[in-house]
Amino acid sequence: MTDAAPRGFWLAGREATGEESFEVTNSWDGRLVGTVSVPTEAQVEEAVAAAHAVRDEFAATPAHVRTAALDHVARRLTERAEEIALLISAENGKPVKWARGEVGRAVSVFRWAAEEARRFNAGEAQRLDTDAGGTGRLALTRRFPRGAVLGIAPFNFPLNLSAHKVAPAIAVGAPIILKPAPATPLSSLVLGEILAETDLPAGSWSVLPVPNDRMPALVQDERLPVISFTGSGPVGWSILDSAPRKHVTLELGGNGAAVVLADWSSEQDLDWAAQRIATFSNYQGGQSCISVQRVIADASLYERLVPKVVAAVEAQVTGDPSDDATDVGPLVSEDAAKRVEAWVDEAVEAGAKLLAGGKRDGATYAPTVLADVPAGVTIACEEVFGPVLTLTRVDGEEAAFAAVNDSPYGLQAGVFTHDLQTAFRAHRALETGGVIIGDVPSYRADQMPYGGAKQSGVGREGVRYAMDDYTYERVLVLTGLDL
Ligand code: SIN
Repeated sequence: MTDAAPRGFWLAGREATGEESFEVTNSWDGRLVGTVSVPTEAQVEEAVAAAHAVRDEFAATPAHVRTAALDHVARRLTERAEEIALLISAENGKPVKWARGEVGRAVSVFRWAAEEARRFNAGEAQRLDTDAGGTGRLALTRRFPRGAVLGIAPFNFPLNLSAHKVAPAIAVGAPIILKPAPATPLSSLVLGEILAETDLPAGSWSVLPVPNDRMPALVQDERLPVISFTGSGPVGWSILDSAPRKHVTLELGGNGAAVVLADWSSEQDLDWAAQRIATFSNYQGGQSCISVQRVIADASLYERLVPKVVAAVEAQVTGDPSDDATDVGPLVSEDAAKRVEAWVDEAVEAGAKLLAGGKRDGATYAPTVLADVPAGVTIACEEVFGPVLTLTRVDGEEAAFAAVNDSPYGLQAGVFTHDLQTAFRAHRALETGGVIIGDVPSYRADQMPYGGAKQSGVGREGVRYAMDDYTYERVLVLTGLDL
């Protein structure tokens, strides 16, 4: 799957090429996957000016126009699912079975956006005659776009996390400029191809593979008052700091914890927990902000759980991402795998026990299990974003929840318990954007609110929640009514 000529980008709804290009390679075998044209400064300016100019027209488009476009994208993604899954796998290195799942989720995001767009902005009436001064008055509150959105997508879910930027924008009638990750622009450009088949107004969307070092100018541009960023903490917080007057949402990292409590103790319970932990510590090479990084298990079952987790991790099939049988492919680059290797080596040198994995081959890092990790080593504090989990033994629920919260991050946590009261206590106690009962932290349904506490970010994705972020409430007061 290679492109001879550089692939165009999408400028205000039409395909264009710039003067320079860059290559996208496959991290498994180094082959060229595609060459992508880079927009010039003038082309970026044209896209931003078009987005700004169309904002009122787009906000006023009838819902049926926006829903037709969203439904069309969902349908075409479904029709082209296998081709797009192979492309995601090739550009990102994720196993094709996970890439197929990603396409299915992107379909769901566009379907949900179409449904939400049908319901959106009917308005909420409030009577004002509760005081004498408001006699004959009624307030009607509706939401309107803040303006054009700059959506910055990461490499780990190149299609679906682009969908989470684009679909809510179309649903509310906010123009969007999507900037894909440099490592994985190709699936976003296919999304552009599909958007180009719709009747959305020119200017209402662009897909621009702008190099990262040219992004500060776009971040500062006042014609893009909303920024939706998914990616690393340092970059995300620097965006917020550099544009404090903009509406910025940040979906950043996590070091997801899976807690196994004392009541989750039958053989069947532990087999299920071990299987889920092994799968979701390693899916996409652990390159998900909600992959399982920390397993926190009650001392009463720790010794029984550990061999099950190790066996399930060792059963993960590592290999060629294009092979249907592969569970764990390479990381996005060899540099990424070298960083994971350095963090594991640091932990082992400091006294951690290596129970599985711990080996690198090019960009592939073997699924790894560490126990007795000393506090203070990098892997105990930071997001590893690789196929590594750590095991910690605790005494009781309170200690388990304290261990989850002993992290700068707070994206999602999983709690294996059968007890409903414990579930509610976890919901109250855990400083995370989501708590998943009976499963790992990695569960995400795309319509759910998704986002972090603490250093994991601000704002929420999940179609309706992003629609709220892209809009603000404006009240209309009607006077002289015979109520
Ligand atoms: C993320 O890495 O934040 C996205 C996880 C997901 O969408 O499943």
